[in-house]
Amino acid sequence: MISRPVLDALNDITVSEIRELDFSRLVGLVNEPNMPSGGGRTVRRVLELTRPRPGRRLLEVGSNTGYTSIEIASWVDNPVVGLDINPVSNEFARKKAAAAGIDNVTFDLGDGRSLPYDNGEFELVFCSNVTSFMDDHRRAAAEYYRVLAERGVLAAVPIYYRTTPPEDLRRRVEKAIAAPLPVTSLDYWIDVFSHPEATLIVEEPYEYVRQSAERIEGYVDSVFRQPHLEQQPEEKRTALRKRLTYFYELFDENLSYAGYSILLFRRAHPNPEPVLHESRRVVGAGS
Ligand SMILES: C[S@@+](CC[C@H](N)C(=O)[O-])C[C@H]1O[C@@H](n2cnc3c(N)ncnc32)[C@H](O)[C@@H]1O
Repeated sequence: MISRPVLDALNDITVSEIRELDFSRLVGLVNEPNMPSGGGRTVRRVLELTRPRPGRRLLEVGSNTGYTSIEIASWVDNPVVGLDINPVSNEFARKKAAAAGIDNVTFDLGDGRSLPYDNGEFELVFCSNVTSFMDDHRRAAAEYYRVLAERGVLAAVPIYYRTTPPEDLRRRVEKAIAAPLPVTSLDYWIDVFSHPEATLIVEEPYEYVRQSAERIEGYVDSVFRQPHLEQQPEEKRTALRKRLTYFYELFDENLSYAGYSILLFRRAHPNPEPVLHESRRVVGAGS
């Protein structure tokens, strides 16, 4: 299941290099599941709300080790494409899809800021926790729209701060993800993903629940039950475990200041619905 380049990279890396690995590179080596915020529930919610028409192509930008693209492909017959800039993650994704017997998904290597596709090729463009890794958020959003078909949907699941995090924490997360982490708000992301020809048709906000140290440890255990990690020498295995645990604890703390939203923008929606008497969903039973 694990490709030669990954095993070679694991053989070559030293313990002191492991201690300095950023999160994306560590994910590529340990094959952690890497899901969108809300996991499969978010993917299924997007599909439920968009119901892609048969035969149309669907794109996930930043597919990493394949979780989201494979989940989408397991629910619909449409051809699904996952695109990522990291070839090692793509390799994991392909193997994972083959092992699961999902044959309507392919994985391409590419950059979200200049997508290797024609205009209007996709019915759905899904992007979760990837645009923030790019240096130019607006250029990436313009690319997503370029490849989006008329009446297609851009599904964006951005993470943003609900309250300002301590500066020191924010800096540690920046180092972990090897990317700038500006304190962005929901309004910022709605602005980034807005387009003159698109209508924001769904906006569902979520908050994160803090996880116990035991739960994080149990999750790390499940990642390290994979044979390619069990076979590593004890010292390397311990260093990899420690690094992954460090990231999960750091992200858990950071996410306690954050939230995410499922945002669906429909391109050229033919039936606009201006509402005068706005409403919001009642949460909780009874009333
Ligand atoms: C934190 S992971 C998120 C994966 C998944 N989308 C999710 O929500 O869990 C970020 C992914 O974005 C990819 N990425 C970063 N910059 C990119 C770019 N310019 N174009 C395409 N993918 C990129 C990374 O390689 C990594 O796989």
